[in-house]
Amino acid sequence: MTVREILKMGDPRLLRIAKPVAAFNTRELEVLVADMFETMHAAEGAGLAAPQIGVDLALVIFGFRQNARYPDADAVPETVLINPQITPLDAAQDDGWEGCLSVPGLRGLVPRWGRIRYTGFDLHGKPIDREVEGFHARVVQHECDHLIGTLYPMRIRDMRQFGYTSVLFPELDPNHDD
Ligand code: NI
Repeated sequence: MTVREILKMGDPRLLRIAKPVAAFNTRELEVLVADMFETMHAAEGAGLAAPQIGVDLALVIFGFRQNARYPDADAVPETVLINPQITPLDAAQDDGWEGCLSVPGLRGLVPRWGRIRYTGFDLHGKPIDREVEGFHARVVQHECDHLIGTLYPMRIRDMRQFGYTSVLFPELDPNHDD
């Protein structure tokens, strides 16, 4: 397993529409997912999308029991989600603070669907079908946005609600700059 370099905003590879994964249960996919978990854990991220390490595939990972960057967030099950589809379950959107490993040092207030259904496949091609809400729903929407070339700053409605983590959330561990 290898900690991979995380691309930062401005890199055109973060703006692509990711290609669907065509073959499951391959050694390549297994190595990619292992590297992504290693990279996400090293950065203490809540999630990571394949395009963030320069891989043009519709694959995201997310999940944690407790996260230093989002100390108030409820646990989210550790998940590999391939070729995802998201459907909002009602019209309500909630504002919440987000950061991104590709946008280090910053946080913004982002509207997201409060309740969603998401479907897709795990590493072995087994279907995933879940209905979730709260931070879990937010993380999935954030990560899946990476698959359509969308970074969270593009979704901020009020740019006054966008700033440096160290200023907005000085209580967070300053060793995490994102
Ligand atoms: Ni992100």
